[in-house]
Amino acid sequence: MRTLQDLDVAGKRVLVRVDFNVPQAADGSVTDDTRIRAALPTLEALRTRGACVVLMSHLGRPKGQINPKYTLRPVAGRLSELIGAPVAFAEDCIGPGAEAAAAALHPGELLLLENTRFHAEEEKNDGDFARALARLGDCYVNDAFGTAHRANASTEAVAHLLPSAAGLLLEREIAKLGPLLHNPEKPFVAILGGAKVTDKIGVIEKLLPLVDRFLVGGAMVFPFLKARGISVGRSLCKDEDLAAAKALLARPEVAAKLQLATDFIVTNNLEAPTLFEAVPADGIPDHLLGADVGPDTLMCFHDLLLGAKTVIWNGPMGRFEDPHFATGTRGLAEILARVNDAGAVVIVGGGDSAAAVQQFGYAGRMDHISTGGGASLEFLEGRTLPGVAALS
Ligand code: 3PG
Repeated sequence: MRTLQDLDVAGKRVLVRVDFNVPQAADGSVTDDTRIRAALPTLEALRTRGACVVLMSHLGRPKGQINPKYTLRPVAGRLSELIGAPVAFAEDCIGPGAEAAAAALHPGELLLLENTRFHAEEEKNDGDFARALARLGDCYVNDAFGTAHRANASTEAVAHLLPSAAGLLLEREIAKLGPLLHNPEKPFVAILGGAKVTDKIGVIEKLLPLVDRFLVGGAMVFPFLKARGISVGRSLCKDEDLAAAKALLARPEVAAKLQLATDFIVTNNLEAPTLFEAVPADGIPDHLLGADVGPDTLMCFHDLLLGAKTVIWNGPMGRFEDPHFATGTRGLAEILARVNDAGAVVIVGGGDSAAAVQQFGYAGRMDHISTGGGASLEFLEGRTLPGVAALS
């Protein structure tokens, strides 16, 4: 993969694909700027080397329509605050206005283009659209690891049209996630949570020969329990996930490595809960549902994580957005921070688990928190990410 060092950027216009698809409040203000901060090292490096920086990103899923709800304008404001310099904004990511704004940049200055997904051609990886983007730069840098699993015009096609390279964030993500798939230091423990078994099958398959243990919590544990004949009450358990869990448990090499959550906090209603009870995994009442893992699970996972040298965590242990059900996810984050302090490499694989680690204040005590949700999962499945492949 070509890197920033391979590009001569002094005095050049550098078109940079970032992933500024960030959470926002109803008024558009940025509520979590992690992805913007993660792009700063690349932007600083380019500015220091005298590049004129033209930034592009998608935001949300506007499906090829201009929609003010998905404008990147508030992101330009937040970036400007973080970087301590003005960030110009272009109302469209292609066309004469964008070209004039890019041409007007002086070395070290920044321009953010409007949402690439306001054009349907972006997600079609359209060649003409990519050519229109390419007119805005002398070279191209992809730092959008979070979108590297999408073959979009701004992540894939454009990379073939200009001298191109990976940004520092993309490089770091691959450097941190890559070793998990190639001789990770053992013992290696993978912790899986979140809602669906089917989302994680690819990761389980890929990591199976490498990990010593899979620890399973979150709602994806219920199909496994049901597949073992244990009643899960009204807990989330879709037929497709049950079928996937049955197929995995039928394989002795998988079953031998799986440690399922051993107890749960059950409730009567996820939206307006009025009842909270810790019950063992085989004691979920028919009329209740599991919303978090319980204290026994945390103790069990803690014991299995002691001495681990490599840990990957993907997927929360419960519905942590609701403080009633955040104890399992927070407790696991704390255990992992201590495991990391003790010298293990602890990697958090993006999406909800990354948000939880940030929210609970443990981000500084993890070896790496991926900025990619879907991208980190696909990477861990061993799939080729189009945005990365286009740079090699
Ligand atoms: C993400 O948030 O996972 C990336 O920005 C990709 O977004 P997408 O799933 O809408 O393509």
